[in-house]
Parts: sequence; C-alpha cells; structure tokens
Amino acid sequence: MAIRNTTVLLLFLCMWVLVPSRAFKGECRVELKKADCSHLNLKTIPLDLPEDISTLDVSHNRLVELKPSSLTRYQSLEQLDASYNSLKVVPAGLCQATPKLWRLTLRHNEVHLLQVRDLRNCTRLTHLDLSDNRLRLNGEPFSGTENLAWLDVSRNKLTTACLGSHPQLPSLETLILAGNDITELKKNDFYFLNQSSSFRTLSLSSLPLKKVDRGCFMPIAHLQDLVLDGCKLNPTFMSRLCMELSDTSLRNLSVQNTQQVTLTRSTFQGLGKTNLTILDLSNNQMARITDGAFQWFPTLEYLSLEYNNLKHLTNGTFVGLKSLRNLNLHFALVKKKTSPLPVIDDFSFQPLVQLEYLHMERTVFGEITEKIFYGLPCLRELNLGWSSTGIKLVSNTTFASLQGSPLLQTLNLTGMGIKSLGPGAFSSLTNLKTLVLSHNFINQNLTGKEFQGLNSIKEIHLSFNQQTITLTPTSFIHVPTLRTLMLGRALTPNLDMRPSPFQPLVNLIVLDLSNNNIANINNGLLDGLNRLSVLKLQHNNLARVWKNANPGGPVLFLHDAQNLTVLELDYNGLDEIPATAFQGLSQLKYLSISGNLLNFLHDSVFSDLRSLRFLRLQKNLLTSVRRETFSVPLSNLTELFMDHNPFDCTCESMLWFHTWLNGTNTSVPDLDKTYVCNTPSMYFNHSVMDFNPESCRDMVPFQALYVITSTLVLGLMFIAFLVHYQGWRIQFYWNIIVNRTLDINDSRYRRVTECRYEYKAYIVHAQKDKLWVERSLLPLEDKNLRFFLEDRDAMPGCSTLETIVDNMRMSRKIVFVVTEALLNDPWCRQFKAHQALHQVMEDNRDSLVLIFLEDVADYRLTQSLMLRKGMLKRRCMVQWPLQKERIPAFRQKLQLALASSNRVS
Ligand SMILES: *[C@@H]1O[C@H](CO)[C@@H](O)[C@H](O)[C@H]1NC(C)=O
Ligand SMILES: *[C@@H]1O[C@H](CO)[C@@H](O)[C@H](O)[C@H]1NC(C)=O
Ligand SMILES: *[C@@H]1O[C@H](CO)[C@@H](O)[C@H](O)[C@H]1NC(C)=O
Ligand SMILES: *[C@@H]1O[C@H](CO)[C@@H](O)[C@H](O)[C@H]1NC(C)=O
Ligand SMILES: *[C@@H]1O[C@H](CO)[C@@H](O)[C@H](O)[C@H]1NC(C)=O
Ligand SMILES: *[C@@H]1O[C@H](CO)[C@@H](O)[C@H](O)[C@H]1NC(C)=O
Ligand SMILES: *[C@@H]1O[C@H](CO)[C@@H](O)[C@H](O)[C@H]1NC(C)=O
Ligand SMILES: *[C@@H]1O[C@H](CO)[C@@H](O)[C@H](O)[C@H]1NC(C)=O
Repeated sequence: MAIRNTTVLLLFLCMWVLVPSRAFKGECRVELKKADCSHLNLKTIPLDLPEDISTLDVSHNRLVELKPSSLTRYQSLEQLDASYNSLKVVPAGLCQATPKLWRLTLRHNEVHLLQVRDLRNCTRLTHLDLSDNRLRLNGEPFSGTENLAWLDVSRNKLTTACLGSHPQLPSLETLILAGNDITELKKNDFYFLNQSSSFRTLSLSSLPLKKVDRGCFMPIAHLQDLVLDGCKLNPTFMSRLCMELSDTSLRNLSVQNTQQVTLTRSTFQGLGKTNLTILDLSNNQMARITDGAFQWFPTLEYLSLEYNNLKHLTNGTFVGLKSLRNLNLHFALVKKKTSPLPVIDDFSFQPLVQLEYLHMERTVFGEITEKIFYGLPCLRELNLGWSSTGIKLVSNTTFASLQGSPLLQTLNLTGMGIKSLGPGAFSSLTNLKTLVLSHNFINQNLTGKEFQGLNSIKEIHLSFNQQTITLTPTSFIHVPTLRTLMLGRALTPNLDMRPSPFQPLVNLIVLDLSNNNIANINNGLLDGLNRLSVLKLQHNNLARVWKNANPGGPVLFLHDAQNLTVLELDYNGLDEIPATAFQGLSQLKYLSISGNLLNFLHDSVFSDLRSLRFLRLQKNLLTSVRRETFSVPLSNLTELFMDHNPFDCTCESMLWFHTWLNGTNTSVPDLDKTYVCNTPSMYFNHSVMDFNPESCRDMVPFQALYVITSTLVLGLMFIAFLVHYQGWRIQFYWNIIVNRTLDINDSRYRRVTECRYEYKAYIVHAQKDKLWVERSLLPLEDKNLRFFLEDRDAMPGCSTLETIVDNMRMSRKIVFVVTEALLNDPWCRQFKAHQALHQVMEDNRDSLVLIFLEDVADYRLTQSLMLRKGMLKRRCMVQWPLQKERIPAFRQKLQLALASSNRVS
C-alpha cells in the first residue's frame, strides 16, 4: 500500500516536473512563421495567431475535432501537426480550407473511418502521416491525393496491404505499413500502386507475415528499398520471400532483428537476379552462415552482420561477394558462457577482392592466425578495436598476411590486450599511415625495432598503455615520417636522455605526452622538432624543471619548438614560469596552463605571444592581471579563461584588467560568476566586475604624497635615533672634516688678520678647576699659539685689571670653563665677563667659547655672566663628556671652536 502511494506521488511529481509550466499559461510560441502550440491542453485551434504562419504544431493537446473553419484564417499554412490528440476523423474540407497544405501529421489519434471526401481536394498534399490510429478504409480514400509521395499508415491494425482497388497515388514514393496485422501479401494487394512509377521504398517492418502470394510484388517491380526489420522470418519463408523479390529492382534490403538464426546456401537465391548493393542483417542472433550463402550477391557493396552470434567464418562464408567494399562485423562473433570460442579460418576474407573497410570491433575469435587476412588487395582500413583474440605479443608474423594489402592505411588495434611488440611487428605494412595501439598493456623498452618497416607511417597512437612504455633514444629511429605521436598516459616518468627519443621525428606536428607524471626532462627534449605545432604536456610533474632554484637553472625545453600553435601545460604543479620559457613562440594560438600554482608571472613572460587567441589560466593562484604581463597576450584574444583565481581587487592589481574586460570583444565565459575577488575584504567574494575603478582616479598624487610622507617620517626617526646614540661621533667626524677644509680655505684670511694675537685663548676658570685646566686644556697648546693662564702668564707687578684687559685683547678667543664654582666667583663673573663681552662688542668678534664641566641652567649663566646660550654659536659651547671614550671627540670639538673664525656670520 505504502509503495503504491509512493509510486503515485512520484508519478505526480514527475508529471509536475515534466509537463512544462507554460502548459498552464496557454501561450503559443511563434517564431519564423512557425507556431508551436503543443502541450497546451487545447481543445480548439487558437484563432489569434498571425495569419501568415506556415507551420502549426498543435500536437499533444485535447483536440477532439479539427474544424476546417478554424483554419481558414491561416491561408498560408503548409504544415500541420495534430499528433497526439483525440481526433476521430480527418475532417472533410480540411484541404479546401488550407489550400497550401502539403504536410499533414495525424499520428496517435483515434481516426477510424477514412472516406473519399475526407481527403478530397488534397491535391497539394505530399506527406501524410496517419500512423497509430484505428483506420478503416471506406471506398478509395486516397484516390484524390494525386501528389502524395509519402504515406505512413503504420500501426493501424490494418489486416491487408491493399489501400485501394484500382491504381491510384501516382506520385507515391514511400509507403510505410509497419506494425499492422498483415499476415499475408496477396497477389493484387499492391495493384493500387501499379501506376506509381516513382515508387521506391516499402516498409513492412514488424508484420506477422506468414504468406506471400506468387507475383505479389509484380505491381511494384521498381521497388528499390525494402525494410523487413522485426518480422519473424524463418529460413524457408525468407527464401520464399526472396523468390518473390527476384524480379524487382531491389538495391537495399534491411532484415534486422528477424530471428534469422541461420543462412543457408539458398536463402538469398531469389535475389540473385537483383542488383542488391546494401544488405543489413544486424541484430539477428544469427549463429551459422552456410558456405556460399552470399554467392548470389556479386554486386553487393555493403554487408552488415553487426550484433550477431556467429561461431565460425570459413573460406567459403564470403564467397561470391566480389564487389563488397565494406564489411561490418562489429559484435558479430561473440562468446557466450558455455559456447566454445568462435573461429575465423585462414583465407576467410580471401573472396573479398574489393573490400576496403573491414570493421571487426568487439569481435571475439580464437586467434589471429598467419593467413587470416590473406587476400584483401584493396583493404584500406582494418579495425580490430576491443576485439578479443588472445593476442599478447605482436610478432613479425601476426600481421604478415596483410602483406597482400598494399593500400592498407589504417590499422586500429585499440584495446586488444597487447602486452608487447616484437621486432618488425609491422614490417609488412609498408604503406600504413595510421597505427592505433591505444588502451593496451604494452610494457617494454621501445628500442625502435618495433616500428621497423613502417615507411609511410604518419600517426602512431600509443595512449592509455598503463604508463609502462619506456622510451629510449632510438625508439623512433625508423619512423621519421611520423606527424602525430600520441603517448598520453603511456610512458614511464623519465624522459631525461640524450639524444631525445623524438629527435629523429623531424616531421612531427602533434606530440601528446600528457598524463605521464613526467618529472625528468632536459632542454634537448624537443631539439630538431621545428615543425611541432601541437604539444600536450598536461598532467605531468614539470614544476621542478621550471624552478629558478633547479640545479643548473630552469630547463628551457621549448626553445627549439618555435612553430608551436597549441601548448597545454595544465596540472603540472607549476609555481614558476621562467621569464624566457615562452620566448619566440610567436605562432602560439592556444596556451593552457590551468590548474597550476602560479601566483606570480614575470612581466615579460608572455611578451612574444603575439598570435595568441585562446588563453586558459583558470584555477591558479593569480592575484593580479597587470598590463606589464598581459597586454601582449590579451591584445587579440578570442577567448579567455582565467576564472577561479584569488584576485586582489585593488587598483594596483585589477584596474587595468577591469578596464580591459569592459572594452574587449574577447569572449570571457562565466565572467560574472567565476571571477571573484579574494582581497581586499571590501570586495571579498564579489565579482571582479563589481570593482569600482573610480576609486583609483586620484591615486597618483595620493601615492606620491604617501611615499613622500612615509619617507620623511622614517627618515626623521632614523636621524633622531642616530643623533641620540651616535651624534657625538658624527659631530666628531664632521668637525674633523670642517677643520681640514677651513685649514685650507681660511689660511689666507688668518694670515692677514690673525697674526696680531699672541695667545690662542684667554682661559677664565675658577680656582677650583685649575687642575682640570692643566690636565685637559694645556695639552692642546701648540708651538705657535699658547693659552693665556692668569696664574702662569700674568706679568708680575702689573695690576690685575690691566693684565686682564691687555691679554684678553691679545687672545684670539676667550674661554670660560663654566662650573658652579666659576659662577660663584665674584671677580671672575663680574669683571672678566664684563670685559669679555665688551671686547666681543668692540671687536665684533665671535670669540667666546664656553666649556661646560657641569650642567648649568641657562638662568644661572645669565645671572652670573650676563650671557645666554642663545647668544653664542653652538660650536662655541663644548660639553665635557662623562664617558671617557668621548674625550677625544671633546678635544676635537674644542680645537675646532678655538680655531673657528671670529667673523660674525
Ligand atoms: C474539390 O473537388 C471537387 C471534386 O472532387 C471539385 O468539384 C471542387 O471544385 C474542388 N474544390 C476545390 C476548391 O478545388
Ligand atoms: C543490374 O545491373 C546490370 C548492369 O548494371 C543491368 O544490366 C541490369 O538490368 C540490372 N538488373 C536489375 C534487376 O536492375
Ligand atoms: C577452403 O579450404 C578447404 C580446406 O580447408 C579447401 O579444400 C577448399 O578448397 C577451400 N575453398 C576455397 C574456396 O578456397
Ligand atoms: C580505433 O578504434 C576505436 C574503437 O573502435 C575507436 O574508438 C577509435 O576512434 C579508432 N581510432 C582511430 C584513430 O580511428
Ligand atoms: C621474423 O623474425 C624472425 C627472427 O625474429 C626472422 O627469422 C624472420 O625472418 C622474420 N620474418 C619476417 C617475415 O620478417
Ligand atoms: C628496460 O631496460 C632497462 C635497462 O636498460 C631494464 O632495467 C628494464 O628492465 C627494461 N624494461 C623492460 C620492460 O624490459
Ligand atoms: C613551421 O611549420 C611550417 C609548416 O607547418 C614550415 O613550413 C615552417 O618551415 C616551420 N617553421 C620552422 C621554423 O621550421
Ligand atoms: C586578430 O585576430 C584575428 C583573427 O582572430 C586576425 O584576423 C587579425 O589579423 C588579428 N589582428 C592582429 C593585429 O593580430
């Protein structure tokens, strides 16, 4: 119960899904004068369609009758399809209403009685399909359809082939009577076609025929094509039928699926007088063909024995088929569980002197014997694909029998379980152009001897051989004519050998090395392949050889393949492409590098690809598409695939690409859905097309500003730190430099103005600091100029005041050794400072130098010495350092201060 309910529900769902929703909208679709009103639940013909429609489809509706009045509106109607409705009759006057109608299709209705008036005036009608109805003919309904060429009355439960009692249908060419209840063909059944001179094709498929009267085909002796598919024809009846056909012009006989289990010598005897050219015996479970069964067919050109159950072909099977050009044995010999292996005898094909195409795909037979293909002088193609013959080794005798087939161009040995190729395996096939060995289990080192003798070979297919073929430098040494070499999923991963196995192939145009996990190659791989146009290398392991860090540098193996037009490198784990990898590939039209790990591309990597039309870079790690890299390859592209990359939608990475996308004619499939920004967070998961280029408009000045400010800040920070920690050192060296410069520059000036000084400096210090002065200052004296020290140099007897005034005048500088003690010494601070200042003013000299032995606040300096630090040049104030190692710097500084010019600047 539950199951039934579920089934009902499922059915309902199916109907709901399958019945197009427009069925409930009731809209016909009109296009190019064709109106499609099918599946609309219509009960009448719509009256609102354009008047000029030529085709009207009202199939699959609920029409019960077809009113001619409803069609008068459509005077141009030429084709009307009312299949799958519930029409009971062909309405009288239909053809009057639609004078141009030539095709009328009324399949699958309930038309029962067919009368003369129904098809009256249908003089233009050429095609009439009344199949799947319940026809009962009343009188001569077809007598008025004088132009009818094609009539289908299949599956109408008709019990006779007789559609009229006197000759009619003068133009009929094809009559389809399939699937009726006709058990016998009487003598006069086809009399109504007696004057139909164009009649050619008769289908009697699926009839329960039991009996044919003598001479029944006489009225239609022009018959050329007869279809008997699906009839049950036992051998006796078949030969009887053939006898009746003997006087016809039969050319083409189809006897598929007729349970024709055996063919005897006499089965086709009756057809001996015809010129039959095509005979289709497929799907018959035929087990046995008696020798000579086909001897009656000297003109037969095509014979199909596809899908049969044959057990044995002998040297007599095909006797007499001397015109046969095409023999189809696809699935013709099969092995059932219990039966023995089918056998094909030596010389079986010998009678087929005209045979060009021998199709033996998926046949099963014991073995390929030495003489099996003997004869066959015209053979052009032999296809043994997926056939089962127990062959493991192809030796030089396997196909020796094809030596007599000098025209053989294609030998297809796909999927035959071949494990190895012996030396000279194909040496008898000197004119072979195409050799297909795909989908086998070849596991060997190809030494080259295997292909010896293939002097005209153009294509070798070795793909799908379990990656067990090992190439050697001589593998293709005997086949320099080769143009196409397919080695996908066939090779062991090492191709690092010199010379390259492909070097002899100077004519090679297509090379497929895909799916081999190739990891080792050298840059001579394609040496000499100047014509190579298509190179497939996808699904290998070439990441290492293109790495910059590869020992010996990246392997530029494409350097000799300058004629490449197609290059496939997908799924190689590539994370780097050397800048010169594609150098010179100016012919390249198709480049595919998808599914790798590329996140960076050199600016110039594509710069030679001026002919590129298709570029595939999807599923990489590219963040940016910059002009520097892509302007050349994208300049004239037909199609671009770059989806599924983690794009960085910033001005820097995306602005140029976005602009290009908006202006290009190139097709970029799925642009909106699969080109998605990964960064910045603002655009995360948005389409690249959502990127706003306006935001980049004022970027340039901002960028400049940014650079300048950041440089400035960093610079200042650096300087601050430098000065803080190493300032004294800098000053030290600076002083030395300045000193030296001044020594040179100032020397003349000094000579003129400064020779009046007797002392280098007048030292003012507190008594307490005497020791420091002696230790630290006196060593700075030199031969020419000395310091004036009151204690040492004052002339005894002179008044102190005079001494001070005179000697200050004679000193080039006045040095105060500033300490708290000095500031507290009244004599010093009042008179000496005063005098010093006076002298400064009077002489307009910049001659004060302060040495700070201690930190002294500025206000104390002002109070005591009437000086401000701001009044003096910085270089004239020197700090006694606390750290010992800075003392040389101090000295240097002091000397500089003492040596500095007195001019006020
Ligand atoms: C239809 O056929 C009848 C006779 O069969 C003829 O009298 C009549 O003129 C025809 N009508 C048209 C429209 O051809
Ligand atoms: C068969 O072909 C021959 C020569 O082409 C011809 O003379 C003969 O009439 C043909 N026979 C039939 C039945 O068509
Ligand atoms: C077929 O082979 C048999 C021997 O197996 C031989 O006697 C016979 O003559 C051959 N028939 C033909 C037509 O070659
Ligand atoms: C070889 O035969 C196989 C199987 O019949 C077919 O799929 C394949 O296309 C053929 N190859 C060539 C190159 O003709
Ligand atoms: C086949 O190879 C063998 C040696 O392997 C040689 O003796 C024989 O002559 C070859 N046969 C042909 C037809 O080349
Ligand atoms: C191929 O040759 C190498 C040495 O040259 C050998 O080790 C290997 O076994 C050979 N492979 C086959 C399948 O013969
Ligand atoms: C490229 O191939 C064409 C033929 O396809 C050939 O004429 C031309 O010489 C080749 N170019 C080079 C550089 O070999
Ligand atoms: C662009 O490609 C087309 C074919 O797709 C070609 O006809 C045209 O010459 C190319 N233009 C340039 C500038 O290469």
